[in-house]
Amino acid sequence: MEVITRSTAEQAVRLVAKLLEARIRTKPDAVLGLATGRTMEQVYAELVASGVSLARCTSFNLDEYIGLSPEDPNSYRSYMNEHLFSKTDIDPANTHVPDGAAADLKAAAQDYENRISQAGGIDLQLLGIGEAGHIGFNEPLSSLMSRTRDKALTPVTRAQNAGMFGGDPDRVPKRALTMGVGTILDARELILLATGPAKAAIVARAVEGPVTSMISASALQLHPNCKIIVDEAAASQL
Ligand code: GLP
Repeated sequence: MEVITRSTAEQAVRLVAKLLEARIRTKPDAVLGLATGRTMEQVYAELVASGVSLARCTSFNLDEYIGLSPEDPNSYRSYMNEHLFSKTDIDPANTHVPDGAAADLKAAAQDYENRISQAGGIDLQLLGIGEAGHIGFNEPLSSLMSRTRDKALTPVTRAQNAGMFGGDPDRVPKRALTMGVGTILDARELILLATGPAKAAIVARAVEGPVTSMISASALQLHPNCKIIVDEAAASQL
């Protein structure tokens, strides 16, 4: 695990976007693992501004809320359409987001794993981190071997994500379909981006603490090719 610190959030974001762009330029048919959240919005803005072609790329998002249709403005499918897919030349047929509206969630989860395998696995997985230490929606007590599945969201996560639901945590769905920690660790390269003082404590525990299923981001210590990119505020407790 390599920790890279930049003075400002803008510089950390720019570095992540540059690394992503470089990966796509060296491998135009890259399989990208994508993340959502406020931190990623600027990364996608920079990637779009770079003008790099995603025409031959395939993408798999980490997670989706259960019970929201893809058309729901709060779904992660809508987020991706808004911030990246509609602004690039990626083929919509090659973009994948877990189906949180599926009647059979177990089958949808298995189908997602199958699609990742059929695509040849993920070349580069982008990650944010939740204040409870989750990657994707792998909340505390997620097995480090877990695969894509249905997961209950903690009150901390629902409060953290309430901003997109009019500030009301009760409107945040209670469950999500998320890649597992094991699914994420299978990616050939991982880049986690965390910015701002609210992430400082959890970044320190994930990077310097013991590997534990209580903090799924700590499992990244086990990956041979993982960069943690932080601004000074998020690095302040390292
Ligand atoms: C959600 C996503 C996570 C993301 C987290 C961080 O919970 N499921 O994948 O890492 O948000 O969000 P933010 O960037 O808004 O702090």
